[in-house]
Amino acid sequence: MKTKTAEEYSLKAIESFKNRLIVVSKNFRILAASNSQSGAPEKDILGKFCHQVYYNRSEPCDNCAVKVALGEQKPSLCPKPELALLNGHLPCYYAYPIYNGNEIEAFVSMDFDMPAIGMLEEKLNRSYVLMESLLLNAVDCVVAADMLGEIFLFNHSAVQVFGYSKEEALRILNVRNIYPEGVAYEIMKRLRSNEYGGKGRLEGYPVDVVDKNGNLIPIGLNASIIYENDREIATIGFFHDRREKIRMQKDLDIAQVQLLQAEKMASLGKLAAGVAHQLNNPLGGITLFAKLMIEEYNLPENAQSDLNRILKDAERCRDTVKELLEFTRQTRHLMKPNDLNKLLTRTLFLLENQVLFQNIAIHKNFLNDLPLVVSDAQQLNHLFMNIILNAAQAMDSKGTLTISTMLLENKECVRIQISDSGPGIPQNVLPHIFEPFYTTKEEGKGTGLGLSLAYNIIESHGGQISAENNPDHGATFIIDLPLNQKYEEGEKGGE
Ligand SMILES: Nc1ncnc2c1ncn2[C@@H]1O[C@H](COP(=O)(O)OP(=O)(O)OP(=O)(O)O)[C@@H](O)[C@H]1O
Ligand SMILES: [Mg+2]
Repeated sequence: MKTKTAEEYSLKAIESFKNRLIVVSKNFRILAASNSQSGAPEKDILGKFCHQVYYNRSEPCDNCAVKVALGEQKPSLCPKPELALLNGHLPCYYAYPIYNGNEIEAFVSMDFDMPAIGMLEEKLNRSYVLMESLLLNAVDCVVAADMLGEIFLFNHSAVQVFGYSKEEALRILNVRNIYPEGVAYEIMKRLRSNEYGGKGRLEGYPVDVVDKNGNLIPIGLNASIIYENDREIATIGFFHDRREKIRMQKDLDIAQVQLLQAEKMASLGKLAAGVAHQLNNPLGGITLFAKLMIEEYNLPENAQSDLNRILKDAERCRDTVKELLEFTRQTRHLMKPNDLNKLLTRTLFLLENQVLFQNIAIHKNFLNDLPLVVSDAQQLNHLFMNIILNAAQAMDSKGTLTISTMLLENKECVRIQISDSGPGIPQNVLPHIFEPFYTTKEEGKGTGLGLSLAYNIIESHGGQISAENNPDHGATFIIDLPLNQKYEEGEKGGE
């Protein structure tokens, strides 16, 4: 039995219930009401049908919680979606039976705000799904982890860049392992400091990450710590892959150096043209007068042979000047059919008398009737020069240089092989030799651009270049140039 005070409080509790709370009989007549939701005082609604008082209906409502509770003989909860459309809430009615012994005597019927919470939840759910899909589909890699480093978010870009599947990352990967040793610690240190974008934030931090295969990938990191009541609960990182930008920067650097080289070659060309002009007249004079002396004077034989020697050397000087002029001549990118044997001979002609080549035996295994290759003669001259110079430098100016030309079996490519008898290319160096700025030479001795330029030249000709070590000693560079390059008729070709 309740005390009187307890009874009073029970009534007060019911009265203070803000929403509707009524007791109805099994035939829907109102027996009691907590407050008058209908606008009329309680006494005016007692004994009336609830559906009439609240909904002005002659029949019980279709979706009536009391009706359901009556049918099922147990409490029921009925949402009212049709009302939700009107006021943005989704009212839900709850009805539970009041027993007299085993018999249901009446029902308590009440409404709740709970459905509104349901809608809020749905809204929250929707925005959560939206946020998640934004993060999952972000262009940058997004990785979030708890404070133990266990990853709970690993988006699609992260899968692509790091090479782990999402399941692998969530199951076995610790966020520390996507950085080289010690880097995760450094990042946390910076995140907790005020100096790098504010406490709990790190902006534009350039760092390398490690992918599944152990490769280092340069990235720009924006990261933050997620707090809950000042307690660190997680970290989230946005990783921007910098490889493309770095590649573009490298291309730009190369283009700049190529431009410088082109400018250098242009001024060299002008210089050579000037020197040639200056030398041509005296050379012409030497040749002419030497010939005159031989023809006009009855000279003793040894004097004649000396004059012949003068003549021959003068002719050689003239040829050298001519070749130098040809080599440095500024031409636009000119594709025409070239005899590669002749191009190689020209490059060798310029090089073989240099001190660097004095103790190098040069073997030429040239294929007769080598098909002409549509190509840019000047560019190929530079390419051969770079490879032959490298060979001479590797051999330390002594040894054997073998240059072969051949037609590949499929008859679609001409192959040039340039072999030296030097020390060969160390295995750890070999994969990098065509990279721009890669050099093993001392500072100031090499720019590391020779082979990368060679690579670009061959690529622009649709060909291939590779290097390998000979079984005994030395290295061989293999250049394949296709014979199917387009050539615009009208320009007379042939070097
Ligand atoms: N024939 C060769 N034998 C051994 N190593 C070679 C040979 N040719 C090239 N290399 C290696 O490849 C590297 C890159 O060559 P590359 O021509 O690109 O640059 P470099 O010769 O060092 O500099 P640069 O050509 O600008 O003077 C060289 O530093 C050398 O280590
Ligand atoms: Mg070089």
